[in-house]
Amino acid sequence: MDILMILGVFIGLLILIMIISWLIGVIRSKSSHFIKPSGDIRGKALIVYDPGFTGGTRTAAIYMAEELKSNGYEVTLAGVRSAVALNTSGYDLLIVGSPTYGAKPTGPVETYLNNLKPAENIITAVYALAGSEDQDSNTIMAQALEDKNMKVKLSTKFGHTVWGAGDKNKYSQFIVRLL
Ligand SMILES: Cc1cc2nc3c(=O)[nH]c(=O)nc-3n(C[C@H](O)[C@H](O)[C@H](O)COP(=O)(O)O)c2cc1C
Repeated sequence: MDILMILGVFIGLLILIMIISWLIGVIRSKSSHFIKPSGDIRGKALIVYDPGFTGGTRTAAIYMAEELKSNGYEVTLAGVRSAVALNTSGYDLLIVGSPTYGAKPTGPVETYLNNLKPAENIITAVYALAGSEDQDSNTIMAQALEDKNMKVKLSTKFGHTVWGAGDKNKYSQFIVRLL
């Protein structure tokens, strides 16, 4: 096998992995599930996220859901394209998460925020994962909510996130600051 054939196989495998990752992301973005705390229910939270290519934003959402659960919250974890994502009625908290691609939140997250009906009496927060330190796509998300007169209590960028979500503790701290 010459070097060109090895390179061709390598690039082909890379493209295949990217297509599979994208397909998994699309499937996950259409799914949702519910998490109930074991004791008394203190409130209800909706976490809407775009799973992205490497799943870090989804993992961050799961870590946040675990922290909310341990604080007595019933949590709906909703992919950004799922049927339950746009229905914010009955929730005390709305958290929206996105990866940063091309210095922006993803297209599905922007579409979600544009289609969201303004909700009163709901505390909102946004977070974004990013590879760089200086691209704050979370501020774009926060602005989209504030344009609908929804006050954003917490807007955070988890930077230097190249693959996966990283340390669980920073997502727990996000929830601790929010509550
Ligand atoms: C195609 C692509 C484009 C990206 N563009 C940016 C960018 O413009 N700015 C940035 O800070 N990070 C960028 N990143 C890094 C991602 O935001 C970061 O790895 C994030 O953790 C991805 O979230 P995910 O694991 O949920 O997919 C990019 C990553 C990919 C794969």
